[in-house]
Amino acid sequence: MKKIISVVGARPNFMKIAPLHRAFKKYSDSIQHLICHTGQHYDEKMSKVFFEDLELPKPDFYLGVGSGSHAEQTAAVMIKFEKILLEEKPDMILVVGDVNSTIACSLTASKLHIKIVHVEAGLRSGDRQMPEEINRVLTDSISDMLFVTEKSGLENLKREGISDGKVFFTGNVMIDSLAYFKPKVVNSTILNDFELTPQKYVLVTLHRPSNVDSKDQLIKLINVLNSIAEKRKVLFPIHPRTMKNLTDFGLMEKINKNLILTEPIGYLDFLALTSNAELIVTDSGGIQEESTYLGVQCITLRTSTERPITVEVGTNQLLGTDLEKAQKVALEVLNGKLKLGGIPELWDGKAAERIAEIISKKLFNN
Ligand code: UD1
Repeated sequence: MKKIISVVGARPNFMKIAPLHRAFKKYSDSIQHLICHTGQHYDEKMSKVFFEDLELPKPDFYLGVGSGSHAEQTAAVMIKFEKILLEEKPDMILVVGDVNSTIACSLTASKLHIKIVHVEAGLRSGDRQMPEEINRVLTDSISDMLFVTEKSGLENLKREGISDGKVFFTGNVMIDSLAYFKPKVVNSTILNDFELTPQKYVLVTLHRPSNVDSKDQLIKLINVLNSIAEKRKVLFPIHPRTMKNLTDFGLMEKINKNLILTEPIGYLDFLALTSNAELIVTDSGGIQEESTYLGVQCITLRTSTERPITVEVGTNQLLGTDLEKAQKVALEVLNGKLKLGGIPELWDGKAAERIAEIISKKLFNN
């Protein structure tokens, strides 16, 4: 029996591990698949609700590290994860995405000579100011198997000298979750709860430090959202970081009455909101991919994207931090000027099955 420990830490990890956990069930007589939650995200609405929605079992290990500076958070994960690795002696660990828990657990495993699998490898924004970019580059450089979601990932890894034999283009596990759970969103009451009409509202998520940590930038963003709210209802589920800054900067009273702020939303309700939106305005990585898969218009308020396929093939428009332009394009979309898009190669809901099969072959050398 081989043992794999998969790591989840922050909100965008849960939907990537869920399909892998399902896929490993097929190999349950030869592979024991365990889940370690670092506790990087700990609020019920940022964590527990995702386990329920995604039908994930209670994690086998919970490290409870919580928030802190980058160094504090990364170090706390490493210290606690090392103890788990020493006790459990897994054959392999599996990490997803680019959050601090991803690099912390990879680095810990590499020092103990435990094999590392990185799912969603090879993505690069080219912007080293983003903490996630550092996490991506470092995790990839010490991983033994790298599973890639889009062709740009193959080119990036080749350029960084990672040998072809370690790299597999298998598709997108986050899209696996979306395809699997989409039929269930009919049970969601979230549109009714917020009195939203399908195709007649705008969904917003913004939480990147570059957008929400400076008062000037946040004021400009709220002005843009207020102007969109003159035309359509806007729903803005707020990340704790953004909420804290809106309050600290005294911006709460500037919010248009058509701009509805609400707490973070669970996976299934959020999927109901993305699938039915007329337009999504975001700075998230994952939502650029989800909107592309769903064929929903998406405006990304960032200067770079590590997911270029969503712009090349999908419905995503990367508008930088030029907010005048963003406002103009948003209003054009609402007036019917749409960016047509298709679904990227291998985003077919079966990535996790392909990954589990390749891992199983590797573990048993056949
Ligand atoms: C992290 C990821 C980011 C991802 C995002 C999704 C890193 C470097 N960043 O950013 O890539 O897009 O998750 O949400 O790993 N907080 C709470 N409750 C929680 C979690 C966080 O209140 O459950 C607050 C705390 O004040 C904390 C702040 O949010 O200090 C930031 O949390 P942190 O985990 O450091 O990073 P995120 O901004 O969430």
